[in-house]
Amino acid sequence: MLIHTQKETLVHALSSAAKNDKIGFVPTMGALHKGHISLVNKALAENDLVVVSIFVNPTQFNNSADLQKYPRTPEDDISLLKRLKGDLIVYLPEVSGLYEDSIFAKKYNFGGLENEMEGKHRSGHFDGVGTIVNKLFRIVKPDAAYFGEKDFQQLQIVKKLVAIENLPVKIIGCAILREDNGLAMSSRNKRLSAKQIEEATIIYRTLNEVREKFSSTSIADLNTLVAERFLQNPHLELEYFEIANEKTLKTAKRKNEDLKYRAFIAVLADEVRLIDNMPLN
Ligand code: PAF
Repeated sequence: MLIHTQKETLVHALSSAAKNDKIGFVPTMGALHKGHISLVNKALAENDLVVVSIFVNPTQFNNSADLQKYPRTPEDDISLLKRLKGDLIVYLPEVSGLYEDSIFAKKYNFGGLENEMEGKHRSGHFDGVGTIVNKLFRIVKPDAAYFGEKDFQQLQIVKKLVAIENLPVKIIGCAILREDNGLAMSSRNKRLSAKQIEEATIIYRTLNEVREKFSSTSIADLNTLVAERFLQNPHLELEYFEIANEKTLKTAKRKNEDLKYRAFIAVLADEVRLIDNMPLN
């Protein structure tokens, strides 16, 4: 496994790969968990060479405390990746290596996808994601890139990004990996206490309840049900719950049986923000 911290040496290493080699790419912000590893293993199975980037991208954080406290575990990340079998390159750039002297995000119009849910609650977040993913795609030039469905809105936005930027990358969404108690795997889980982990299982339980009741209950009643479940738990704050059209991500008020819906949720456990989602039909 090779590790590059400089864009130039990474580009050089990639340019010396065989011409027909398929390059898979897994962009991450580190603090790797089994969910990331499953993306890397899928990429390794489907490509000749895989690049994993580890970079906590400053422009996608709208809250500086969140950026500061984002878990950073590069040594653990590298030892996890070293255990994998296959042709793997790790790219660990510095902020200055990707942003030079201006740490700014490009302004994107993702056709409205950026204004829903996470976009409403994390101003400028998707401009930051679009900016960094575009930079990374232009450096790595992957054939395929792998993203987890936990960040379902991000996945849809990255699909739109490659169309806008005209990049020849196949975007592959991968199912959410969960802990045994149902909690969606996330780097942010590392910041939760054992008690908070236990309490946070309400997220998965509630999403499951919504899925089970979806065909027989109105969206308005499901919204009320979720609000009530969270009122019973004083340690978790429900930031939003929405049932949205899976394609447009627009909030659904009524069901249309020709459309696909997904439930999306964001919850605060003290200052740790957890998101999750689940297909409903
Ligand atoms: O999902 C993430 O970890 C990040 O948003 C990404 C895609 C690596 C961009 O910084």
